[in-house]
Amino acid sequence: MIFPGAIAADAFGRRFRYLRLSVTEVCNFRCTYCLPGGYRKSGPMDFLGLDEAERLVRAFAQLGVAKVRLTGGEPSVRKDLTQIIARVSAQPGVDKVALTTNGWNLARHLDEWTAAGLTNLNVSVDALDRDAFHRITGHDRLGDVLAGIERALVLPLKTVKMNAVLLRDGLADDFSSWTEFVRGRPIAVRFIELMRTGDNKAFFEDQHVSGAVLRHWLERHGWTTKERGGDDGPAIEFTHPDHLGRIGLIAPYAPGFCEGCNRLRVTARGQLRLCLFGQGGRPLRDLLQADDQCEELKARIVGALTFKPAAHGLHSANPGDTRSLAQTGG
Ligand code: 5AD
Ligand code: SF4
Repeated sequence: MIFPGAIAADAFGRRFRYLRLSVTEVCNFRCTYCLPGGYRKSGPMDFLGLDEAERLVRAFAQLGVAKVRLTGGEPSVRKDLTQIIARVSAQPGVDKVALTTNGWNLARHLDEWTAAGLTNLNVSVDALDRDAFHRITGHDRLGDVLAGIERALVLPLKTVKMNAVLLRDGLADDFSSWTEFVRGRPIAVRFIELMRTGDNKAFFEDQHVSGAVLRHWLERHGWTTKERGGDDGPAIEFTHPDHLGRIGLIAPYAPGFCEGCNRLRVTARGQLRLCLFGQGGRPLRDLLQADDQCEELKARIVGALTFKPAAHGLHSANPGDTRSLAQTGG
């Protein structure tokens, strides 16, 4: 029996108010740590359609999900992204619609996405230096991406964040260009420790640096950690009295990282993934075909949650069957 308004929980008492929905596996960038050879088609491009995505989000919202993040791949390669945002945002109970994007067409579309209901924006920016950005992503587009971020700052978004992957080359010793960037901008820059995926073994062994490097740098330069709120997600955030923005660290290898996990993932083909680094998925798509399947869909989701593992297997070098984060959404 599912009670109306009840929040689905797993066997460890973790409750899920946050859904990450991948809307495509396709990406137009070639980030060295993710898709160094670019996106390669695997199977038909039959990603969830508008009606399917809407039914999916409706069921999760009825189970207590209040925040939906659209990810990919690169979500903005979908021509109907504005409509997806509008449909998700119209679901009763959903009060945050977030987007993770590489920013390539942000400046052109952000006004329209915000008007459709987008509330929170995360842009992946791995370097503030044009050549380094080009080297990492395969695209000379830092200028376009930063123009989109400047636009985001004048639109009524709740939060604007930037994600940067910590890499031994370039990022790992001097963070002053980033702290300067957030001196006058109310942006959170979050560094993500490089994660091992199925496809990046050699790259990982060469480029992984511990988040402690960033933490020590920030502490030496007068940054302090913020009190953590209950709903904060996995980042540790640092602030500085002279800077409007914040610097965060997401360290998936740190002890306890999984304990606060409040998120569920659904792939672009409608598979429920219980953990980013889990094994396999539970198909939901057959229950996204008609409005009257909603109760059955909710029952399947609630049933699947009891199998969510306590923690990922990264410490034992087990990335599950995640080949790259483009596949499941970061
Ligand atoms: N390790 C850490 N972060 C990654 N991302 C993609 N692949 C990896 C990885 N192997 C990041 C992207 C983006 C977010 C969605 O995930 O840079 O910021
Ligand atoms: Fe594309 Fe994001 Fe992967 Fe870069 S990290 S290749 S932008 S999916």
